[in-house]
Amino acid sequence: MKTVYALSFIGLTALSVRGQAALYGQCGGTGWTGATTCVAGAVCTYSNAYYSQCLPASTTGTTSHSTATTATTSHSTTTTSAAAPTGTGALKFYGVNIAGFDFGCDTTGTCTSAGAYPPLLEYYGPDGIGQMQHFVKSDGYNMFRLPVGWQFLTGDQETGVLNSTNFAKYDVLVQACLATGAHCIIDIHNYARYNGNIIGQGGPANSVFAQLWTNIATYYKSTTNIVFGVMNEPHDLPDVTLWAGTVQAAVTAIRSAGATSQMILLPGNDWTSAATIWSDGSGAALLNVTNPDGTKTNLIIDVHKYLDSDNSGTNAECVTDNVATAWEPLAAWLRTNGRQALNTETGGGNTASCQQYMCSQIAYQKANSDVILGYVGWAAGSFPTTYVLSETPTNSSTGVLTDALLVSSCMAPK
Ligand SMILES: *[C@@H]1O[C@H](CO)[C@@H](O)[C@H](O)[C@H]1NC(C)=O
Ligand SMILES: *[C@@H]1O[C@H](CO)[C@@H](O)[C@H](O)[C@H]1NC(C)=O
Ligand SMILES: *[C@@H]1O[C@H](CO)[C@@H](O)[C@H](O)[C@H]1NC(C)=O
Repeated sequence: MKTVYALSFIGLTALSVRGQAALYGQCGGTGWTGATTCVAGAVCTYSNAYYSQCLPASTTGTTSHSTATTATTSHSTTTTSAAAPTGTGALKFYGVNIAGFDFGCDTTGTCTSAGAYPPLLEYYGPDGIGQMQHFVKSDGYNMFRLPVGWQFLTGDQETGVLNSTNFAKYDVLVQACLATGAHCIIDIHNYARYNGNIIGQGGPANSVFAQLWTNIATYYKSTTNIVFGVMNEPHDLPDVTLWAGTVQAAVTAIRSAGATSQMILLPGNDWTSAATIWSDGSGAALLNVTNPDGTKTNLIIDVHKYLDSDNSGTNAECVTDNVATAWEPLAAWLRTNGRQALNTETGGGNTASCQQYMCSQIAYQKANSDVILGYVGWAAGSFPTTYVLSETPTNSSTGVLTDALLVSSCMAPK
């Protein structure tokens, strides 16, 4: 999709642009073997040791076409550390959040079943299934995260017992996701809480939360491409060691139900921020969580990161690629501890600033794919195309889907 964007931008054929990187394309950085000069009107600009990018000449304050080699050489001394990245340049997972079953949840974990807005035509919602099929076929995505409120799954009962009617509705989306061949993340979107009360710390007992996971994992225990996302964005937890005990209870429940091989995502405090998990103590506590056999196989650290001024994912403009403040220290921490992370929420407005910083963030993640497995964009599904961070494709009257700018120019793997 990057190529298509470049072609429509400068109106040339594929052959004539060979050797020149597209606007916002990569043009240099450690391990980069592609084009090092930019199309007309763009300048190859140093971003970090792993990434130089073609930016519009007007925003770089110069019209000269500096080469990536020069740009990189003059700054390359800033990033050297003992544990060097051994990324392959390709991530394992490229995903999109297909939101909707989590609608009606707020950040206190207060949700109502009635507030859910399933991204399913058969329940009068948007065509989330058509979106997933498009993302896989046209864009090369291979992962979807399917947020859902705990209350929806249990029919507004504070229990681990699934409401069969509601779970069957959610499973329609899960099965459609699996049918695309993608990996599908079950994401309990409750911020470590049920109706305002923290699990294991005044709210539902760990055993109740574990029972919820026992029932979900029993249903999907033989499905290889299911990923268990223990909890979305815990925050303001009084005790991160107690929280790690809650996560341990969920992991033990999932594995004991027979789901022995799938990935399980472990969420830390502070909204699972990639900028703090290695420093706020919650990551350290999560490192102790184990499978019942004592191993840590397929226990993956879950991290989120937005690129706007307050890391909230609510602003149309982006101000950072998070490399210095989050991805670089996170990658070092993961290597030191022999662990890997998955970035299950990231995104930005469909704006030039987000194009610039998101492309740069993704290039860093690719260069560090030994410890960063992939990213999942926020969000499509039941979000309208007018939502500030929308990755929902627009749909023509004849059913032709066109991706949002950030998807087509940065986030889509092809
Ligand atoms: C499922 O939950 C709904 C409320 O969302 C309720 O009306 C229904 O009776 C529940 N069904 C079962 C089988 O518990
Ligand atoms: C992790 O486990 C070790 C050994 O049981 C313990 O000493 C340490 O305090 C634990 N760390 C955290 C952060 O809970
Ligand atoms: C696009 O629109 C067509 C009708 O023109 C509809 O059948 C289809 O479900 C829509 N697809 C998506 C992904 O919204």
